[in-house]
Amino acid sequence: MDVNAFRQTLGQFATGVCLVTVSDRERGPLATTVNSFSSVSLDPPLVLWSIQNSSDHLKTYTECQHFGISVLREEQAGLSGHYAKRGGHEALPEHFTAGAQGEPQLIDALAHFSCSTFAVYPGGDHQIIVGEVVAFESTDAVPLIFFGGGYRSLSDQ
Ligand SMILES: Cc1cc2nc3c(=O)[nH]c(=O)nc-3n(C[C@H](O)[C@H](O)[C@H](O)COP(=O)(O)O)c2cc1C
Repeated sequence: MDVNAFRQTLGQFATGVCLVTVSDRERGPLATTVNSFSSVSLDPPLVLWSIQNSSDHLKTYTECQHFGISVLREEQAGLSGHYAKRGGHEALPEHFTAGAQGEPQLIDALAHFSCSTFAVYPGGDHQIIVGEVVAFESTDAVPLIFFGGGYRSLSDQ
């Protein structure tokens, strides 16, 4: 299979962009940019995201009890870039407040889900992490969109 063509074709599916967050006992508060977030179930309330097996934080995210998902607004593309850098996942205090279970919650996020880890499944070169949502909140704003390998806004032509 042509992996580049496959990646490019996957990029034809427009997604939002989120920060997955965790408060780790050893590493402290962490945030990582992801676009693999998806809803799964209403009853029980489940969501998922997937983490690449090569991530420095694989163990942290697959073994944590609680994590957060903060959905980015269109003005927050800079934060997406910041928390996608290898070695740059320390959740800075100026960007976050405490979520319902003590996880970092992005200040001014479009939405936030506070999750308890429900299951972790192998998924090829990723692990699929399913979370049970225990608290959530949202605001009215315009989401950041990721499409075709770049950031877009719903207000783009
Ligand atoms: C828009 C965007 C979406 C991303 N989505 C994911 C994702 O769903 N899962 C993932 O493991 N990494 C994703 N990444 C990469 C991570 O943000 C980060 O770069 C990667 O985890 C770096 O490796 P580290 O965890 O070893 O620091 C994404 C990056 C960007 C810019």
